[in-house]
Amino acid sequence: MANSKNNLILVSTLLMLLQLHFTPSKAAIKGGYWYSESGLAVSNINPSHFTHLFCAFAHLDPNTNKVTISSSDSSQFSTFTQTLQAKNPSVKTLLSIGGGFGPSLAANFSRMARQANTRKSFIDSSIQQARSNNFLGLDLDWEYPSSDTDKTNFASLIKEWKEAVTKESRTSGKAPLFLSAAVAGSDQITPLKYYPGKDVANNLDFVNVMAYDLFTSEGYPTVTQPPAPWNNPRGQFSAEQGVTEWNKTLGVPLNKLNLGLPFYGYKWSLSDSNKNGLFAPAKQGLGAVKYKDIKNVAAQVVFDSTYVTNYCFKGTDWFGYDDTQSISAKVVNAKQKGLVGYFAWHIEQDSNWALSQAASQAWGM
Ligand SMILES: *[C@@H]1O[C@H](CO)[C@@H](O)[C@H](O)[C@H]1NC(C)=O
Ligand SMILES: *[C@@H]1O[C@H](CO)[C@@H](O)[C@H](O)[C@H]1NC(C)=O
Repeated sequence: MANSKNNLILVSTLLMLLQLHFTPSKAAIKGGYWYSESGLAVSNINPSHFTHLFCAFAHLDPNTNKVTISSSDSSQFSTFTQTLQAKNPSVKTLLSIGGGFGPSLAANFSRMARQANTRKSFIDSSIQQARSNNFLGLDLDWEYPSSDTDKTNFASLIKEWKEAVTKESRTSGKAPLFLSAAVAGSDQITPLKYYPGKDVANNLDFVNVMAYDLFTSEGYPTVTQPPAPWNNPRGQFSAEQGVTEWNKTLGVPLNKLNLGLPFYGYKWSLSDSNKNGLFAPAKQGLGAVKYKDIKNVAAQVVFDSTYVTNYCFKGTDWFGYDDTQSISAKVVNAKQKGLVGYFAWHIEQDSNWALSQAASQAWGM
């Protein structure tokens, strides 16, 4: 009897040590962007698959350098947090500012970041928008800084942003707003050297690495491609390579990086319906297609575990995309590599929450 008590103590001590050793230092991030233009009502989001939901997008006013919300968005944005937390009380919400709208918006971010007073307009108004609309954080989507000057100014912007949210938290007595950014996931998209990695590591809570759109049907119209492969034995660019560069070259800890998951794919028209694998000859690239629309085609689905991608085909229609298999495998790889989590762009494109659920289950607790 005495022995079994000692054994019990030994076992529980061992369990404690194991827990200390294996408990990750940060809670996982299971993120998703809701895009207001997608038409999905916030009340129809299933927040149970997510820890963080990003509300996209607030705008940068080029005249005042303030963060604004379109009047058509204001009612859904102002109730975003409340609506989602009614279903999942622990979900964190962030207001995303900017977006991938091309060089004109990038130029406006560049101009705003150039001077201390315009940075202050941006920063102060962003905090004001977050607080007055009940968001718990802010997400900078400047796509993309593209010069050494931008790099310096991006660094000043996020440093001053962090100081401002820390100060605001002391004054308001509220928890500081989270700060994040959506960043390019590969030199294939834009040169990563124009991001100030150390300042990102020091001032942002986490970073959404957009490790997708690496091989699109617009970019490669004559050969079918895996648009967002985890691995790439044929070439340099892959999701894994992108997050490694963010860590090793730019110096951001892996446990601040979220892996981007595209909830859409790309369509090609095959030259020969019998040549229907990866890197098959194509007549034409036909652009991006939502996951839910790809599923409606009822095509034959293939999982390629080398690249970690799915593709499917029907006749000469061919889609490279992520289905539940590649989403799950990428999420498992991201977790094993030591990333803090993942995020999806964007959640309305999912089909009955299949990808959202697959990602969440693959990560586990
Ligand atoms: C950028 O600013 C210019 C004015 O300087 C404006 O005309 C343009 O619409 C802005 N672009 C975006 C995407 O907001
Ligand atoms: C890469 O990430 C690891 C784990 O978070 C971190 O310890 C390491 O310092 C990072 N590498 C660099 C060069 O910052």
